[in-house]
Amino acid sequence: MARILQLTDLHVFASAGERLKGIPTRELLQQVVDHVLATEPAFDRVIITGDHTHDEQPESYAAVRDILSVWADQLLHVPGNHDERRLMQEGLSAVSRHANGSDRLTFCSDIDNWRLIGLDTHVPGEVAGHISDDQIAWLTNRLAESGASHVGLFFHHPPVDVGSVWMDAIGLANRETLQTVISADERIRLACCGHVHHEFTFDLGSARIFTTPSTGIQFDPQGTTPRFATAAPGYRVIELQPDGYQTHVVRLPTIPYAPVND
Ligand SMILES: [Fe+2]
Repeated sequence: MARILQLTDLHVFASAGERLKGIPTRELLQQVVDHVLATEPAFDRVIITGDHTHDEQPESYAAVRDILSVWADQLLHVPGNHDERRLMQEGLSAVSRHANGSDRLTFCSDIDNWRLIGLDTHVPGEVAGHISDDQIAWLTNRLAESGASHVGLFFHHPPVDVGSVWMDAIGLANRETLQTVISADERIRLACCGHVHHEFTFDLGSARIFTTPSTGIQFDPQGTTPRFATAAPGYRVIELQPDGYQTHVVRLPTIPYAPVND
């Protein structure tokens, strides 16, 4: 059984103590990593599904790299809206190792009878995401060439509505395009995303779409404008089996900080 750790929406700042709506994101990323190391068996892959930083600065990527360095040999990354591709590639050694030749930051990693594919939905300067034709072509080729029994996808912007007016307005712009690919290949069993900073699931074809809490600030899906929830930071564990998988979210046992809603 292979074990995957998903961390998402780190939102680390260049300045160590800087807070996002009252939440010290760098400190909480460290708390999450410490909790994982203290409580979890080892992981075969550690996948970061975007928003590594909040301010897209070289110092922020350096801090992320240092905090995650315990998993240097397991890390895989895709970008979120709060990322900058060039700085990500320069600052995180695992990124350049898995880049596919274009400026897109993707990965393709086989483990047992599973293929894990990371997609790039980042649009510079935009909060919403987009899945480009070149990404669809690249994904289609990775699926066609593979003899894997099962496929897991990882990317930042969820490909479905998550039942939140304000989050769905900043989701994946052309989500139907990716829905078509996911629905057409029954080997695709799961797609793990970030961006919405709360836990959500949705069935699509043979796949289940999962979103995962942030390692820092949590979002409240209710209402029509952005609000921040008082909830503990978390992460997702995925256990890959020969004939399926199990997954669950784990949160820190206490809520370290309450967010400021203004
Ligand atoms: Fe985020």
